Amino acid sequence: MCGIVGYVGESEKRQILLEGLKELEYRGYDSAGIAVISKDILQSFKAVGKLKNLEEKTKNFSANGFGVAIGHTRWATHGKPTELNAHPHLGKESYVVHNGIIENYQELKKRLLQKGVNFLSQTDTEVIVHLFEDYLSLLKDSFKAFEKTIQELEGAYAILLITKIEPDTIFFAKNGSPLLIAKGDDGIYFASSDTAVIGKAKRAYYLEDGEWGYVKKDEITLFDKEGNKKELEFKDLPSDKLSAQKDGYRFFMEKEIYEQSSVVVDTMMGRVLEDDIHLDEIKEGFLDGINAIKICACGTSFHSAMAASYLFERIAKIRCDVEIASEFRYKEPLLSKDTLFITISQSGETADTLEALKMAKRAGLKSLTICNVDNSSIVRESDVALLTRAGIEKGVASTKAFATQTLLLWIFVLFLAKKRGVVSKEFLVNEIKAMQMLPRVLEVSDKLHEKIHRLSKRYLHGHGFFFIGRDIFYPLALEGALKLKEISYLHAEGYPAGEMKHGPIALADSNLFTIALMPKTMLYDKIKSNVEELSARDATILAISPIEFELADDFIKTNFSSHPMIEFFEMMVILQLLALEIAIRLGNDVDMPRNLAKSVTVE
Ligand code: AGP
Repeated sequence: MCGIVGYVGESEKRQILLEGLKELEYRGYDSAGIAVISKDILQSFKAVGKLKNLEEKTKNFSANGFGVAIGHTRWATHGKPTELNAHPHLGKESYVVHNGIIENYQELKKRLLQKGVNFLSQTDTEVIVHLFEDYLSLLKDSFKAFEKTIQELEGAYAILLITKIEPDTIFFAKNGSPLLIAKGDDGIYFASSDTAVIGKAKRAYYLEDGEWGYVKKDEITLFDKEGNKKELEFKDLPSDKLSAQKDGYRFFMEKEIYEQSSVVVDTMMGRVLEDDIHLDEIKEGFLDGINAIKICACGTSFHSAMAASYLFERIAKIRCDVEIASEFRYKEPLLSKDTLFITISQSGETADTLEALKMAKRAGLKSLTICNVDNSSIVRESDVALLTRAGIEKGVASTKAFATQTLLLWIFVLFLAKKRGVVSKEFLVNEIKAMQMLPRVLEVSDKLHEKIHRLSKRYLHGHGFFFIGRDIFYPLALEGALKLKEISYLHAEGYPAGEMKHGPIALADSNLFTIALMPKTMLYDKIKSNVEELSARDATILAISPIEFELADDFIKTNFSSHPMIEFFEMMVILQLLALEIAIRLGNDVDMPRNLAKSVTVE
């Protein structure tokens, strides 16, 4: 998630911007920059890497006296983390910073290129400042030019724009990405998260989607999405920064579970259209000659890989096998060059996965990674990188990374199936319709969370948990078991439901908790009979299903049953919340579980 700060006032601007950006570091970034107009001088500085690099670059710069200033930390989604791609982006006499994804940037860029505009970066953001200046030259009015610019943008954005034409003004707009305005004693502040202004201001206005306007000296002018002027209703800012970073959630993991419904929008942005799938990252010809898929990953990423393997074979009609990276590295694998080698990694730094990738490359295989961190080692080592755009994941137990990995793999499966000509347009449209339900499916209702909180008190002991499922719900069962293990420290294992009778059912008794994933759209009768066998032996059953199951000791009714993947994601949230609530009851540090690291960069 990128970070935005802005300031209009008399105080020294370099310090204000750097302090604000530092408070947003927790959101994760790989480059940063600032731009200032003061005494009619427009200056900008950008640096790749951490803020200390930007501090170094600006150590001889200061800007006292009235002026306007904007700053940005960038989490790469379009284009590598380089200085050219870092924000702010420059037109002839204007600078812009932006959070979000401009979905129609390519058509806007094409139109501007035809007008002779020169683009410096690979980003979607740069079109904003050039479009603004294009309208400025046409309308000769910066306020109208900004309004017309915003009206043309599609997608998610939080924008701050400054221009030498209006040296005392910051233009702003918000749609889908957070942005607030805060009144401080020494001026007016902007930020993408309130942590950046706590201590500098007491009250803030949190912009709503479609709102835009400008701040001129100490006057704020706000318009709603219909273009009507609107009064700002300021609210008190939280006093504690850390809880502000958690946005009021108890743990980052909890926040990240709730974020899933919004980050999947970013994952799909520009890729999932009404009736088509686009992956600009994959150049024409890259997949020519590919007749098999091999996916390599660890932990939770291995689980998303396993789930995808069912989709590759069922939908894209291509052979797909999945390997745990630490096993793959030493098994002397047989590899063929018609196999696409896919790695999946949240961090992009997992040593086992990185080494497996290097092995595959040495064997001459094409490589593609599904990763959450641009410019990470695995991204740099891969031929193609599809970024999950989940934003920084601070909880060691992976949640939104798993959700966006699985979604992006589903998108890639459809892309490949279309290219291989093995799916109809109607099938593709139906899959896309299901995908577009995800933001709603992933929303966590208070009712659900409260039910799981109450339920969790019954699962704090026992001699272990079985999470069971079939087909894509088997990898989900593995993931549910891993979530519980790593934050509650209770023993749990995921198992294919059909395998219980081949031994594990011997464990069945009232102290064996079985979490049964019973989707309506995938082998329901089979899983139902597996669970009945367990129930008959007095195992304690927690059934998760859209269909009432009278033999369950506990039952969580799901809402959606129109598509297996929709059921998958809804049950995923339930498993994440169950692990969270059990771990909280046990008093564990959910975000930093014992013995674990967020990225395992050693063997
Ligand atoms: C998942 O909750 C764990 N934190 C862990 O299994 C993780 O998925 C694994 O270490 C792989 O990490 P990566 O996705 O960054 O490669």
